Amino acid sequence: MSRVFHEIEKKIIAAFKIESKLTPEKLEKLTKLSPDQVRRGVEWLKLKELANVDETKKVNFSLGKNGLESLQKGLPERRLLDLIKKGPINISDLQKQLGSIFGPAMGLAKKNNWVESIDNKISLKNYPSSIPGEKTLKQIGKGSVPETKIDKDDLASLLKRPDFLVENIIKTKEISLTQTSSALLKEDGGFLLTEDGSKILQEGNTDKQPIDVEAKVPELFVARTHPLKDTIDEIREIFVTLGFTEILGNMTQPSFWNFDALFTPQDHPARELQDTFYLDGMSSKKIGTAEQIRNVSESHKKGWRYFWDINEARKMVLRTHTTCVTIKHLAENKLDEARIFSLGRVFRNEKVSYKHLVEFNQIEGVVVGTNANLRNLMGIQREFYRRIGITKIKFWPTFFPYTEPSLQTMVFNERLGKWVELFGMGIFRPEVTKPLGINKPVLAWGGGIERIAMLKYGLDDVREFYNNDLTWLRSATKCQ
Ligand code: PHE
Repeated sequence: MSRVFHEIEKKIIAAFKIESKLTPEKLEKLTKLSPDQVRRGVEWLKLKELANVDETKKVNFSLGKNGLESLQKGLPERRLLDLIKKGPINISDLQKQLGSIFGPAMGLAKKNNWVESIDNKISLKNYPSSIPGEKTLKQIGKGSVPETKIDKDDLASLLKRPDFLVENIIKTKEISLTQTSSALLKEDGGFLLTEDGSKILQEGNTDKQPIDVEAKVPELFVARTHPLKDTIDEIREIFVTLGFTEILGNMTQPSFWNFDALFTPQDHPARELQDTFYLDGMSSKKIGTAEQIRNVSESHKKGWRYFWDINEARKMVLRTHTTCVTIKHLAENKLDEARIFSLGRVFRNEKVSYKHLVEFNQIEGVVVGTNANLRNLMGIQREFYRRIGITKIKFWPTFFPYTEPSLQTMVFNERLGKWVELFGMGIFRPEVTKPLGINKPVLAWGGGIERIAMLKYGLDDVREFYNNDLTWLRSATKCQ
């Protein structure tokens, strides 16, 4: 326990020389501290287990509108009984005299067997000396009364009646010292010990006041970027520092750029409705230049041997990967040398689960260059992963319609003790590049950003990113 006390704490402890239990208000008076200083000081002492705070809730009652009326004129049933005390009265006359309280008064009087009705007249049977609630009504009428001083049954009967009582809840706090702090107070009577145990610091002596660097302060939660956005920004920064330039593309694309230009045959399962979101009834008029369309169509006919339908290529989709942005950019710019990347949302008609969302973010990198080769591609991957803090990786052969060879990086998840697949990659096939006039080797890779963020934040469920769990959002470490 830190024995360095803040001036506020010392003043609070010293105040207990006078009384063993103090309310915050009393503490304010004795210490001349502000309410906020007292609140904070008590909170600090509580954390150091040097103060106890007892919170009590007291209830007291005062009279409501109907209660006040009954105090003046008597309870409704008492008024009824007083009227018929001298002799039976006609119901209609009673109704006139008592007005709106006639009903409740009669109800209670009958229930308690105080009255009987004969031939439209009400007559007295018993005259009670006391009626439930009467005593308490008078008691509260004299001034508000704490709950503890009131007869329970009497109170219950008044509480049942509308607008008779008003309940006032008063919360009080009482602060007292713990054993440790009262011993401390006794031991040095008003002087408080410093960390090294020397009795120097007296109340008010501020020049030699040590600073308690371990003192707890209130936690403040200011706005922050979402952890996923943080990861996206971090990835973007890595690419930029590696000399890559960002390119942008649309989230909706004609199938032509999302699939056909990437040598994905028109009967490929990835193009089916259960995998891809199509924009209902929308087809693109101008999907590319006449030459691009002709060459891509030829490439499909030659390579896959089927009838290529331009109407299939016109169908608009929510892009299923960022590779459509890459290929369109390359086809339009015919670069001999390039290092580019793109980032953004992609969409897949997946069943949402702990590892799949229907929309997620992808990062895609591309290198074009005369001597670009598979070894470079793997080297770039290693460097990228190293920069996000992943060092245990391996490459695995895989298949994409648009690359040959095709690889996949597997990275080792230390926490789960297993390999997880991350980026897909490869060298664009000539069937992709030739028809679009791209003459240099193209290395391309891409994958989900949420996957990387899950590794980074140790999450097992990708949906966590969108749950808006404030505790998690506040505690997730910020990218440096
Ligand atoms: N587009 C692939 C995917 O979404 C990744 C990839 C990009 C593969 C570029 C090869 C080349 O999984």
